[in-house]
Amino acid sequence: MKTLHECIEGIGSEWKDPHFWEKIDKNPFFTSSGINSPKKYLDRVRTITLNYALISTYLPELLSGGFKVWDFSCGSGIFLEILRFMGNYVEGSDQPGLPYRMLTESQGINVSVIDGRKPPFPIKSKSVHWLTCIGALTFYGGENWEKVMREFFRIAQKGVFIGINAGGIYDENKKIIEKMVLPPKWHLTKRNRTYFKYERI
Ligand SMILES: C[S@@+](CC[C@H](N)C(=O)[O-])C[C@H]1O[C@@H](n2cnc3c(N)ncnc32)[C@H](O)[C@@H]1O
Repeated sequence: MKTLHECIEGIGSEWKDPHFWEKIDKNPFFTSSGINSPKKYLDRVRTITLNYALISTYLPELLSGGFKVWDFSCGSGIFLEILRFMGNYVEGSDQPGLPYRMLTESQGINVSVIDGRKPPFPIKSKSVHWLTCIGALTFYGGENWEKVMREFFRIAQKGVFIGINAGGIYDENKKIIEKMVLPPKWHLTKRNRTYFKYERI
């Protein structure tokens, strides 16, 4: 198992694409400012640290490697970069237009287009060990949550991990998640506020 320090050293605190910063300067999506600016995803040490903490807290089994992981709405892809460094096979998807493509391409993370608002999703049943979806469910519309979750349980062989942004959309729809009858063999094995870990046992 790698430490956070080894992880930062191994993955690198710099972007791999030698023209990364020139390209960013020309991309209006990344030049906006404010607390919700996508600029925060450009600070690699910050995002590696946050994602390493998330993985060690909720998904420590993935630190030993050997799993196939699909990160739904993977954004910058840093979560997958860490998991790949740990020896997992990783793939991601994000919304049409792939706003973070420049980041994932720089780091060689494979990302396909899947719109979370439009289940069912074009991914084969039990085709990955773990399916993760962090900070994105609120963008899919509460009316879709149950269908989306059922798709996640169909696709994942071993586990599903969801992290939902706290706030109004979550408060209005959390009952959908909390009261959902899980498919056979699936159990909620860890929960902390807006983080839900499910395993097929
Ligand atoms: C707050 S970011 C979280 C990104 C990443 N999972 C993380 O933890 O850093 C929300 C993500 O949801 C994606 N997203 C927004 N609407 C979406 C949709 N309709 N379908 C799929 N992804 C969507 C965004 O492109 C972005 O990557």
